[in-house]
Amino acid sequence: MTAKKGRVFSGARPTGRQHLGNYLGAIKNYVAMQDDYRTVYCIVDIHALTTVETTKDLAFNTQEMALDWLAAGMDPKQSIIFVQSHVPEVMELHTILSMVTPLGKLTALPTFKEKVRDNPDNVNYGLVGYPVLMSADILLYKADAVPVGTDQIPHLEFAREVVRSFNFHYETDVLIEPQAVITKIPKVLGIDGERKMSKSLNNHIELAATPEETEKRVMSMVTDPQRQRRNDPGNPDVCNVFTLHKIFSSENEVESINKDCRIAEIGCVDCKRKLAANLNKHLEPFRAKRKELEGDPDYVRDVLLDGAKRAKVIAAETMAEVREAIGFYGVKG
Ligand code: TRP
Repeated sequence: MTAKKGRVFSGARPTGRQHLGNYLGAIKNYVAMQDDYRTVYCIVDIHALTTVETTKDLAFNTQEMALDWLAAGMDPKQSIIFVQSHVPEVMELHTILSMVTPLGKLTALPTFKEKVRDNPDNVNYGLVGYPVLMSADILLYKADAVPVGTDQIPHLEFAREVVRSFNFHYETDVLIEPQAVITKIPKVLGIDGERKMSKSLNNHIELAATPEETEKRVMSMVTDPQRQRRNDPGNPDVCNVFTLHKIFSSENEVESINKDCRIAEIGCVDCKRKLAANLNKHLEPFRAKRKELEGDPDYVRDVLLDGAKRAKVIAAETMAEVREAIGFYGVKG
């Protein structure tokens, strides 16, 4: 085995069953990175509390998401896969980092402003500190690289600034500046053909859906809005169904759809039927693996608890260095 390049950390909030957008935007990339990096993947359930109304489904959503991760090929032998709250050191680091974080920097972040706009009645202290907790995630595990979508770039830049101010303030070099690895993501819209695929908009296609459910969702996808009648020529360039064909269908099929749609040789119904079939075929191994994992109710829990144990080893080391750098009473240095 060749030596792995460095440590990668990424986190995602426990949103339950994952959809195609999650798969193409994150999971696929998480799986691919396992070969080259020492990968640490975290279900960030504490972050979820910043916007949550109820925790009724929190544990269930964590379990369901982990099942999808594992069925999709995230491998506990290659990666540390764990739940954020199982390694409470992150909250200690969060508090420590908060002391070197100017409040104005947090309130100026676009992600914070968005959340305030979306949820003006729940601007809690934890929400303001969201990026500090995210920094603590990354820095606790001394990640060199963090795969993120473009929306998270300000958070990564923030984490780098936190490292600089901590290291400067305590005249140390224990924390490491992480690099953002921008994931190249095809723009996958929801079945409405308008907005990004998301569970809360209910425009998503779940990985674990049955083939019948998947077909139903695909058949309800919005195509080229200019194409009103079967005999109108269509424009694949503006069609979300075609975007998915490019990902899940063979080159030949993509080529002929591209040609036939423009001359109204193929209609949207047939085009979607083909997509549903290809998608279902693509997801077959995932679904089989998920069924198998579901058959052993303890499996996911065991994987996550073992992941937490391994994560804790790294976390304890970093925290010992951090406490020493600060110079707390009774800490050897
Ligand atoms: N903020 C990220 C999101 O909303 C989730 C997250 C929490 C994260 N901690 C992280 C991502 C650490 C990367 C690294 O998607």
